[in-house]
Formats: sequence, structure tokens, C-alpha cells
Amino acid sequence: MNVLIVGGGAREHAMCDTLHRSKNVTIFTIMHNKNPGIAQMSKDVLIEKETDVKTIVDYALDHEIDMTLIGPEAPLQIGLTDALQQKGIMVCAPTKNAARIETDKEWMRDLLKKYEISGQIRYESFTTIQKAIRFIDDLNGEVALKPIGLTGGKGVKVSGDHFKNQDEAELYIKEIFKNKIGGQSKVLIEEKIIGEEFTLQALSDGSSILPFPAVQDHKRLQPDDKGPNTGGMGSYSRKDGLLPFLSKSDYEEAASVLQDIIEALGQESCPYVGPIYGQFILTAEGSKIIEINARFGDPEAMNVLPLLQSDYAEICSAMINGTINEKKLNILQKSTVCKYVVPKGYGYKSMVDEKITVDEDHIKNTGARLFYASVNKKEGYVTTTSSRSLAVVGIASSISEAEQVAERALKGIQSENIYIRHDIGTNVLINKRVQHMKELRGM
Ligand code: GLY
Repeated sequence: MNVLIVGGGAREHAMCDTLHRSKNVTIFTIMHNKNPGIAQMSKDVLIEKETDVKTIVDYALDHEIDMTLIGPEAPLQIGLTDALQQKGIMVCAPTKNAARIETDKEWMRDLLKKYEISGQIRYESFTTIQKAIRFIDDLNGEVALKPIGLTGGKGVKVSGDHFKNQDEAELYIKEIFKNKIGGQSKVLIEEKIIGEEFTLQALSDGSSILPFPAVQDHKRLQPDDKGPNTGGMGSYSRKDGLLPFLSKSDYEEAASVLQDIIEALGQESCPYVGPIYGQFILTAEGSKIIEINARFGDPEAMNVLPLLQSDYAEICSAMINGTINEKKLNILQKSTVCKYVVPKGYGYKSMVDEKITVDEDHIKNTGARLFYASVNKKEGYVTTTSSRSLAVVGIASSISEAEQVAERALKGIQSENIYIRHDIGTNVLINKRVQHMKELRGM
């Protein structure tokens, strides 16, 4: 089977690696940057913008592609899935309409409301500043400000974390209106939720889901969750599929929310096929929905995909054929810690074209996995771009052991000009999370 992967980040490297372990699969890739890890596993690579629909469809036809997997959200938003399907190519990713669950945050909230899905929060959207400020007052200033459309995970600003008072909120809303951040002169204002964030990813065939282990991502740039939001600096998961602050019933509640969303999308005549991602905040009153994404998370894909023992190509075919309920995800019972290596200045002004030497043998010998992201390959080294560079994933029995494996692996990566959040997966940070949840629950 000829499979085309669209996307060249670490998430897509993990998808490619998982497919590469499937039987009878030949991989082709289209990506904007030549990811050395993906290139090595691909029969052919086209360096092209992942949103150039015509070129991608032509490439798929020329190379007799049987099935396409799409990593990032931008091609979903402009209907790459639909365009490929129109040419008879199977796609394991949502259509433009179904992907609105991520690409239109107001539509997502309205859908949850219409179908009375649990985990909802107060929200409203605004196109004028006066009404927006009145709603912020109603919520006592405890809000999250969100552009309606895609912002690469960097558009959300939360009171107390990213802005201090009403004046700063007003400035950001005006900036959204003026610059059409997220594609529209409109802001979604949501009540701020206090709790612990977690991610649940699942695979959907349009009617059933197969959920993966839960993961906790770290969006903030600096240790102890300080600094600006990023695409994600690292993440961890635990071998039982839960998290140190997340019980089995919390997990099951989140999985049933994803199932309800899939059913709602079916009712709306936009059946959802492919990976789906729920970002939740666990509060004293249960889980609240923060975002739903129409794809795997990055970095969260790197926590779950390396553990998948099932033939991924077969699972993808089952998603497309609507037979996922006949499948089971065979997942290695291990904990994982993923740490991203980013260029110095990332989150503000990345240092680009900086040299990073990567000792792949050393990383392999530690038992960790290496996933390249946005780098350029040179003779014997890679160079940084403005985005995240690469990630290592420690895999072991406990989170703490996996964290140590990741740290040992990172010693194989040398550069003067990289930055890593070393606190991810450490006992100190995780205990803080557990303690926080206990306080919220009055324990
Ligand atoms: N880890 C956040 C995202 O993939 O959107």
C-alpha cells in the first residue's frame, strides 16, 4: 500500500515511524522542510507547502497513493481531505467540515451546547470591544481570550497567566480585531477554568472511538509553567494510561465526551474520521473541555504512537472503512517522557541556522526515541529554524525512569544555542500537580 504523509514535524515523524512498522506499506511524504527522520523512511519526498492542495493531489495521483494521513491542522482547514477524496484517494483525516471542531472555536462551543455534551463552560463571542468588556466584567475578569480560528497554539491568553488586568485584555482583543488573529475580527471569551490540564487522543471511524493513554503537555516555555505559550515543550504519560492526578473514572468521562462529540458530528452530517484530540482541565467538579483538535497533538503523539504495537496501516484502513469497533489498540504498558529541544529565543525570537549535532547512536543506546521536527539537515549535523527542532522520548516502567532516560538521551544533543525545559516529567513538578488537584478537591 502506498501511503502519503502530509507534514514534516516531530508529530509526523512519529506517525511515519508507526506506519513504517506496519506490514506492506511504502511511505511517500510531502513537507515544507526536509525532516531527516521522515526522509530516511520515505521512498520519495516532495518539499512543498502542506497547504498547496493542487500540488498535493497531483502528487498523490502521480504516485498512485492509496491512503493519505495528514498531520497538521492547516491543510484540514482548507479541505485537503475533501480534495483527495474527490479523486478517489482514501484519507485518514477529517474533512473541512468535520475539522471545524478545531478550526472554528465558536462552532465547537455551539456544538457542545446543542448536544448537551458534558464539560461545557461559559462562553460568548464578540465583534465589539464594549460588549466584550461587559462579559469580562460578568466573569469577574477571570477569562480566557481566544481567536476564533487557528493560531498554532499560541493565540490563547488567560487572565493572571498572560495578562494582568482589563486594560491588557482590551489591548489584546483590539489586536485580535485589528490583525484578524485566527482569521476573523472576532474574539471568543471563555470563563477561566482552574485545575490540571490533560490530553486524551483517540482514533475515530465516524461512529466509534479507540482512546489512547492520557498525556499531560506543557505549553509554557519556561520551567514551572512560566513564560509565553508555545506549541508544547514536552509531555508525559503513565503506563496504566492514567496520570498521577487523573483517576480511571476521570479518564472514562473524557473518553465518553470524545465519543459524544463524534456522535454529534455524525448528526450534523459531517462524520469524523481520523485522530481526534481532547484537551481537558480536571477541576473539583470534573473535567471541562478546553479545546478539541482535529489531529494528533504535538508533542502528545510522541507519547502514544511509539507504544502502539498494532499494525497502524490496518487501523487507519479500519477508521476509513468504519470498522474500528472490530479493532483493539495494542499498547505497550510503559510510561513516557517527551522533551523538546528548541532554538534559543524560541517563543520570542528564535535563533535560526544554529548548528545542532545529534548523536543518534547515543540516543538509541539509552533506549530513548528521537523525533526530528523543524530542522535543516547538513553534512553531519542539523540546523535550527524558527520552530521546535527535535524531541526525545524516554520510555520506561515509571514516569521517573522515563524522565531519566530522556535526560540521558539529551546528552547526545550538543549545541550552544538550544533550550530545553528540563523540569518536564520530574517528580518535583508532578508532585506539585498532584498536590494542586488535592487542594482543589479539598483533600
Ligand atoms: N499540544 C498541543 C497541540 O498539539 O495542539
